[in-house]
Amino acid sequence: MKIVITGASGLVGTHLAHHLAAKHQVLPLTHADLDITERGSVRRLILNERPALIINCAVVSVDECERNPALAQAVNVAGPQALAETAAELEAEFLHFSTNYVFDGVREGQVPYTIDDEPYPINVYGMTKLAGERAVRAAASKCFIVRTSWVYGAGKDSFLGTVHRHLLAGKQVRAITDVWASTTYVDDLVVRTEELLTRRHYATYHVVNSGVCSYEEFARLSARLVGVADTEANKLIEVVYEANMQRLARRPRSTPLRCLVSEKLGLVPLRDWPTALAEYVAK
Ligand SMILES: NC(=O)c1ccc[n+]([C@@H]2O[C@H](COP(=O)([O-])OP(=O)(O)OC[C@H]3O[C@@H](n4cnc5c(N)ncnc54)[C@H](OP(=O)(O)O)[C@@H]3O)[C@@H](O)[C@H]2O)c1
Repeated sequence: MKIVITGASGLVGTHLAHHLAAKHQVLPLTHADLDITERGSVRRLILNERPALIINCAVVSVDECERNPALAQAVNVAGPQALAETAAELEAEFLHFSTNYVFDGVREGQVPYTIDDEPYPINVYGMTKLAGERAVRAAASKCFIVRTSWVYGAGKDSFLGTVHRHLLAGKQVRAITDVWASTTYVDDLVVRTEELLTRRHYATYHVVNSGVCSYEEFARLSARLVGVADTEANKLIEVVYEANMQRLARRPRSTPLRCLVSEKLGLVPLRDWPTALAEYVAK
């Protein structure tokens, strides 16, 4: 089928476009190709291309949302809404990515959040992502929402994606010890996303690797997996608290996810995060 992907040069968009291109006609649109906040351009391009499916990967990052709430509203809410409305006009399917940051993370005991839990975002990113979910759900009936969390993989210079390389090179890293979430290897995310598309069950999914960790735990396992001894890792990993980081946006403290809909559909949970991480660092 013909698939349009917006925000296609980001981490998720790049990997998804590559994965889906094996079986489908994929039109990957970068920010330069289509600014999703330009409503007229969105309609013109999509109605002209007439895809059977639109996948939106465009987003404004967490701290940038805090810095520029108007941009966050435009990209995380109005843009997805325009895409979803155009999809509905074509009777096309629409898939939109969202986030664990729709939850406040205050719950004790690391009990995973499911779609039965009421979202309470605590930063502009989470608020606009939640508003985006609601806008696309209202606009398009054939709509998948895929909430994911702490995604890493080749091509993005994030902490999770690069910490193993830094440690192997003997570089000092700072790792937060008091924030926990589910991590998601982007290769697993794109495979599960395709599986969900083939099921055609329109719902809100939580797609993450099984288990939960802090950034510190992720860094320590990354070190071990690339052969850095624990004594060396102890010297290289500076353990810090979220409060020390003085990041612009507050982060929810603990937001592991679990997918009730996939379980109902009989899909096995994604492999656990240590196994996924081992495959990533070995590549
Ligand atoms: N990465 C994670 O850890 C994570 C966690 C939870 C949920 N998610 C969700 O997963 C989805 C994809 O995230 P990602 O990690 O792939 O993000 P990313 O790597 O930051 O990519 C986002 C892309 O959106 C593009 N973009 C920004 N504004 C745009 C606009 N107005 N029109 C069109 N494109 C625009 C960016 O292009 P420019 O850079 O050129 O502006 C960039 O290529 C998002 O919905 C995000 O909320 C990600």
